[in-house]
Amino acid sequence: MPATILIGAQWGDEGKGRIADWLARDCDAMARYAGGDNAGHTVQIGAQKFQLHLVPSGVVHPGVTCILGSGMVINPIRLVRELDMLAAAGVDISPERIHLSTRAHVITPAHLELDGAEESARKGQAIGTTRRGIGPAYRDKAARTGLLTGEMADPDRFSTRVQAHIQRANPLLSDYYGQEPITTADLALEYGEAAQRLAPYLADIVTCVHDVLERGERLLCEGAQGTLLDLDHGHYPYVTSSSATAGGALTGLGFGPRHVDRVVGVAKAYCTRVGSGPFPTEQDNEIGLRLREVGGEYGTTTGRPRRCGWLDGVALRYAVRVNGLTELIITKLDVLSGFDVLHLATAYDLDGERVAQMPVSTAQIERAVPVYETLPGWQTDISDVRRLEDLPEPARHYIARIEALAGVPVRLISVGPEREQAVVC
Ligand code: IMP
Repeated sequence: MPATILIGAQWGDEGKGRIADWLARDCDAMARYAGGDNAGHTVQIGAQKFQLHLVPSGVVHPGVTCILGSGMVINPIRLVRELDMLAAAGVDISPERIHLSTRAHVITPAHLELDGAEESARKGQAIGTTRRGIGPAYRDKAARTGLLTGEMADPDRFSTRVQAHIQRANPLLSDYYGQEPITTADLALEYGEAAQRLAPYLADIVTCVHDVLERGERLLCEGAQGTLLDLDHGHYPYVTSSSATAGGALTGLGFGPRHVDRVVGVAKAYCTRVGSGPFPTEQDNEIGLRLREVGGEYGTTTGRPRRCGWLDGVALRYAVRVNGLTELIITKLDVLSGFDVLHLATAYDLDGERVAQMPVSTAQIERAVPVYETLPGWQTDISDVRRLEDLPEPARHYIARIEALAGVPVRLISVGPEREQAVVC
């Protein structure tokens, strides 16, 4: 069986973890392909709630093989902590089922400090990063000065390499950013210990992925962040430093497009964004506050309140194009219950012209004014609805307008946080 790629169709936080968990029922292996612990994927099973930052969401399903791909950046300390959390909850974390690429990159303490120092130095122009060292780690990767996860196979040498990495960064931190230099001894030791724990998980991911595909099993590639945060296709510099779009799955895991038969985009029924950067449909008012409170819109990784706004059909169409989405999953439709009317952006007004496609430059998107279609809301609680025909008519109409704007079908709608609170279309 071929591969499915699961993508965030907005600015991240679309509820991919929960959907990955739902799709895990039909897959044999699940792989993260990009990003690091800047991601926060929540999976709720009954009373148990898992917040995963690095390990694929499929880990809570006993039969699913989990792969951490080469396109990722890994903080070894955080990965060990996450594995310990899973083990304490009774999840099988054996190296027979969890594989960490030898070719991912390591986030060192220097990357963490630099991320913070660079953000502080940007002052009013801060990107609003998660301060998890993501940008500096990918920068080292591109400059060919990074540390590969494969180096953890020799923990003592790895510890020395981390120490050397910190020592190289210290003058930049202290002389340029005016920060205290990092003291290396304890940290390097801690990294060495983490390497000892993680070494058994190291694997040749290309072989793992192709073994899965050649056995005729289904691989689910779990995207992190979202299309509009993609390094190439988001609004630079207000992006993350990895390929969050469908192409990233291929490069991050090492397989070709002929294996992919589904590209599933996950979008909230409205929009949210954390961090700075353009957000045309943002509602910095009572509507935004209501979406945040009802939707519980606070970052999984940083706890930051998310910016909230109406659904952006232009952004959605862009996500369909950039990723080649074959279908959409709409999450949190229940959060919109109780609004008298809903607004859905169908185009932008840009410098006196009406545009239907995403403007290419960040300056343009900052000037874009959404053109809204107004739709009737619904007043009933929909969290117990399980069939499309049982949704109130305005809710079905809202979904139909999304399908028409996106040009792809909506296959699933989530109406609450529990695994079963979903409507299959
Ligand atoms: P970084 O990935 O920590 O460098 O942050 C860059 C931008 O991406 C910031 O605006 C972050 O808020 C945003 N970002 C990174 N990861 C996520 C995520 O998982 N969900 C939503 N936003 C994210």
